[in-house]
Amino acid sequence: MFTKMTKSKHTFKIITFSLTLLILLGLITSIIASESSVADDNNEEDDVKDFEELLALDEEEEAAEDSQVKSAEAEVLTKAQRIVPELNMENYKRVVFEGNEFVLVLGYAPWCFRSAELMPRFAEAANVLNKMGNPIVLAKIDAERHPKAASVLGISGFPTLLLFVNGSSQAYTGGFSTEEMVLWARKKTGMPVIRLNSVPEAEDFLSKNRMFIIGLFEKFEGEDYEEFAKAAVADNEIQFAETSSSEVAAALFPDAKTKGHFLGLVKNEPETHVAFEDTLAMGKILQFLEYNKFPLVTTLTEQNSIRVYASPVKLQVFVFGNADDFKNLLAPLQDVARKFKSKILFVYVDITDDNLAKPFLTLFGYEDSKKAVVTAFDNKVNAKYLLESDPTAHSLEEFCSGLFHGTLSTYFKSQPIPNNENATVLTVVGRTFENLVLTSPQNVLLEVYAPWCVDCEDMSKKIVKLAKHFKGFDNLIISRIDASTNEHPELQITEYPMLLFYPSADKSNPIKVSAKSSLKDLAIFINKNAKVIKHNQEATAKDEL
Ligand SMILES: *[C@@H]1O[C@H](CO)[C@@H](O)[C@H](O)[C@H]1NC(C)=O
Ligand SMILES: *[C@@H]1O[C@H](CO)[C@@H](O)[C@H](O)[C@H]1NC(C)=O
Repeated sequence: MFTKMTKSKHTFKIITFSLTLLILLGLITSIIASESSVADDNNEEDDVKDFEELLALDEEEEAAEDSQVKSAEAEVLTKAQRIVPELNMENYKRVVFEGNEFVLVLGYAPWCFRSAELMPRFAEAANVLNKMGNPIVLAKIDAERHPKAASVLGISGFPTLLLFVNGSSQAYTGGFSTEEMVLWARKKTGMPVIRLNSVPEAEDFLSKNRMFIIGLFEKFEGEDYEEFAKAAVADNEIQFAETSSSEVAAALFPDAKTKGHFLGLVKNEPETHVAFEDTLAMGKILQFLEYNKFPLVTTLTEQNSIRVYASPVKLQVFVFGNADDFKNLLAPLQDVARKFKSKILFVYVDITDDNLAKPFLTLFGYEDSKKAVVTAFDNKVNAKYLLESDPTAHSLEEFCSGLFHGTLSTYFKSQPIPNNENATVLTVVGRTFENLVLTSPQNVLLEVYAPWCVDCEDMSKKIVKLAKHFKGFDNLIISRIDASTNEHPELQITEYPMLLFYPSADKSNPIKVSAKSSLKDLAIFINKNAKVIKHNQEATAKDEL
């Protein structure tokens, strides 16, 4: 349900944004035309090419549009231009270092597509902030045309956003949508909290904000309140609201406590309300937000992946599937997620998106899976888990409960168990490592290799020869394991190829044998350490000769 909502919102944003972009591109045509030497490396050339294609598209579209739309666009453009002054050598010192307390500067280059993408949102943010009466000035500078001014400001890449507070700059740490830029700017310009005085105000606020934290305080002063206000500034992405009226608080958070102060996070999705129940301290509030800001089930995207990976929630369930799987699994997932709210992070990954899904699926040897895969991670102990049965409401709940209570068995990759009958060198896989290597009565020599390891081939040849030489010896197993597709907790890989000797008397302390050893060295080593006793019958037969 909520994905649909964000999607349509997103589409709307894209449409408005594209419209503004079209105008902007039109403007930049003239700049590009006058700047003949735009690109000298491939990237830049690509940018220009993309850009020109867009311009051509722009012209086509423009021709199709009637003049009324055009004049409306021109109006928006002039307004944006008026609100976002262009800095140059003559005015930058005055604007940034002398005249204004807060200046947010966008450094761009006319050929840079990402700059062009950002600019209309930047202009819109300027417009919104301006309407709010925020004192911040949003300004832009063509860093290619004015390299000296750009360098004084500290702009080195495109696009760059920097906030100047009384002339000293600080990094921009907010998001890149209009909404996120406005929110961040407000936080850094002394308006981190919106005060709500009446229920209608609160309702209006509720309709306009996707996620926020509401604080109910009798008075907007005192130590507790200060902590709240400090957290509002320190956080970079969540709107803080405050009220002293319990009716207002209840309009936003139906179960708000009415005695003393109350803090609650409100999210526009199925699990809407999370109350803060700790002592009021900035660090605790920020931590609370970190743990609770994600939806019940977060859909992983290129845009949010960094935030998701940075989550302090150590227990994470990742569900991989196609759109249909997700539709079927969403409701049961949300039910489970509600039970483990702020304890387990639930992430959905589109299995058809190789960039996002493959790196995870490879960890389980499921990189080619077409079916839904449910996995979990405990990042505190670096363990991974796999739901081996089909995902259902029941199996998901059991799996998550096991994850939470630490009772799941860690997943180790394993190929299917091979038939080792007649094999000179036994093939060990993840699932047979225990039986063949650790608990078998024999001495075991294990060659650890990976298919991509070129140096491993030499070693493999030596091992085959060695195995032929020692064939028929009762107390010696010569074996190999492909460690790229097989794992075991007792098998710690430090290099490829790796040669390990497990003495029958002490399997828990394998001896690492140099991979550079000659065939003869290896034979001597085995004779010495395995106290080789020949196979009885064969020995007798040979003795008889
Ligand atoms: C900027 O400077 C003015 C004048 O000195 C001062 O009143 C104001 O508090 C300063 N702003 C910040 C955010 O430090
Ligand atoms: C092992 O060798 C025996 C005897 O040569 C043969 O009958 C059997 O098929 C072989 N098994 C496999 C799996 O190759």
